[in-house]
Amino acid sequence: MESLKQENRVFNPPVEFVQGAAISGMDAYDALCAEAEKDYEGFWGRLARENLYWKKPFTKVLDESKAPFYKWFEDGLTNASYNCIDRNIEKGLGDKTAIIFEADDGTVSTVTYQDLLGRVCKMANALRKRGLQSGDRVIIYMSMSIEGIVAMQACARIGAIHSVVFGGFSAKSLHERIVDVGAVAVITADEQFRGGKSLPLKTIVDEALSLGGCEKVKNVIVYQRTGGKIPLTAGLDVWMHEIVANEAITCEPEWVSAEHPLFILYTSGSTGKPKGVQHSTGGYLLWTMLTMKWTFDIKPSDVFWCTADIGWITGHSYITYGPLAVGCTQIVFEGVPTYPNAGRFWEMIQKHQVSIFYTAPTAIRSLIKASSNDAAIHPRSYDLSSLRLLGSVGEPINPEAWMWYYENVGGSRCPIADTFWQTETGGHMISPLPGATPMVPGSCTLPLPGIMAAIVDEAGHDVPNGSGGILVVKRPWPSMIRTIWNDPDRFIKSYFPEELGGTLYLAGDGAIRNIETGYFTITGRIDDVLNVSGHRMGTMEIESCLVANPLVAEAAVVGRPDELTGEAICVFVVLKGGRPTGEEAKKIATELRNWVGKEIGPIAKPKDVRFGDNLPKTRSGKIMRRLLRVIAKGEEITQDTSTLENPAILEQLKEAL
Ligand code: PRX
Repeated sequence: MESLKQENRVFNPPVEFVQGAAISGMDAYDALCAEAEKDYEGFWGRLARENLYWKKPFTKVLDESKAPFYKWFEDGLTNASYNCIDRNIEKGLGDKTAIIFEADDGTVSTVTYQDLLGRVCKMANALRKRGLQSGDRVIIYMSMSIEGIVAMQACARIGAIHSVVFGGFSAKSLHERIVDVGAVAVITADEQFRGGKSLPLKTIVDEALSLGGCEKVKNVIVYQRTGGKIPLTAGLDVWMHEIVANEAITCEPEWVSAEHPLFILYTSGSTGKPKGVQHSTGGYLLWTMLTMKWTFDIKPSDVFWCTADIGWITGHSYITYGPLAVGCTQIVFEGVPTYPNAGRFWEMIQKHQVSIFYTAPTAIRSLIKASSNDAAIHPRSYDLSSLRLLGSVGEPINPEAWMWYYENVGGSRCPIADTFWQTETGGHMISPLPGATPMVPGSCTLPLPGIMAAIVDEAGHDVPNGSGGILVVKRPWPSMIRTIWNDPDRFIKSYFPEELGGTLYLAGDGAIRNIETGYFTITGRIDDVLNVSGHRMGTMEIESCLVANPLVAEAAVVGRPDELTGEAICVFVVLKGGRPTGEEAKKIATELRNWVGKEIGPIAKPKDVRFGDNLPKTRSGKIMRRLLRVIAKGEEITQDTSTLENPAILEQLKEAL
């Protein structure tokens, strides 16, 4: 934070970039903002008409009558898959490469828009034949593959609502999502390849289904990826290649209301249970397209590469939907950035002539570290001259990582779009525009046109620039979350809380604006949500998982800053059998780490486990998490501990294993 406050380096977009950009110069940005300010509905209505294909045009832009359950373009009929594929073919892009797929082992395959249409239609027909209908929920539990994208697009084509679960989540997490969403089908793969290894998928689906309550699931469709041996249950499991084999390569799309749910994606919140974030068809697709044009300045000749996984929102918006909706060529990568070595990203950019590269700060930081003593895998050892634009997403990018990315990857010539957004926002909210906004390392700069972001105090009043506060959005926007699946009350409480007046969208992040420029800098979550390697983790989720372990009496989870992963998970545990020490403590810590890995998924494994006879509590029994955060950081406790019931245990908790 300190280094951000002092950051005063400014990098202007290169002149040639500005000249050719979709939004060229700050005047063009200001004009769009002014248009939105003057006639908000007119602005969005114009963009929706210009950008999307409407089978039946909408007559009303925004319906606020049931706020905060906003509706956009509701009486318009459209289809996401049609907009992403057929429409490009009608524009003459049938032979254009839609996807360049690079497998973990380096094998490359490509599909054109025409090929993609055939594959999506075959799958959509097969789904229909198996009884799937508009509104049915389908769980997709796959790794990065063309088939994963085909599965998502095929659901969209028939109006089925997909819910993709990241392939690194455990059987228990998968089960929880299958049940909550009420899935009628699961699409998965036999196994996945990652970093030279094959890892299970189908057996985890089997385990999840065996946990009960999944009776609605009538089909498990399996993509054969590795050829590994997996059992198939007759009457339930089918091979994807078998069910699509005899299907037609055309399929009439299901024309749905713009408000028809396109997908539900689970994310962590501040209470234990993950939230099913529900997105719409029309508004969502509109914003993924517009941000491809505005933030990524996408051009017909670009080769776009977003390194996210389709299991996260970034993979939904900037792999499955946005890039296809604007008809671009994109890279889809199955593997990991460090296999066969940490030069993989740079080698792939060189090989495929990537022009726009979008990745996460954690990846950048780990590649900085890896290349610091190995010149062969340093970006300078590759020809990265095809790049013209870089992007960052998922967590704050520290100015040091920004500078390294800018100089070594972008050759000091590529603008960096530091895109702030969330699962709930559907697309970018605050980001520099590459042909307009002067950049400051570590700041996501200014809201995109039409996004009314602001910073308020705890009563919902605007704070002046220079004073930190709570990040909110003052007006609804088309790609915003529509509700939390099965829990509309939680939707209102989480995002439109009474304390802020009930009309402001609460992002859950703190932010500060620069006094002179008004630039936003995100200061981190203000709730009990951690951001580990750009992945959102609820502290309560990890706590409930720990207390479910038979050894554990009580647990508290906090985050602490980590050079590589942004934040690291630190847990404080009280065991039922008393406080362990020495080798025994180490053994139990490993056991608990593995427990969390098994129960939630490897991404939730705590980095630091500490044991105490108790946790620091106030006399009323509340765990003092503030103190735990200080202890986790290894800092001296300066705050008053006189209200603590049991100050002596602080010494125990300071002991790292
Ligand atoms: O805390 C913010 C952080 O990631 C959170 C959203 O996480 P998720 O829903 O998983 O979506 C990640 C991909 C969009 C935010 O509340 N965050 C995301 N992007 C940035 C960021 N923090 C700072 N700068 C960013 N560019």
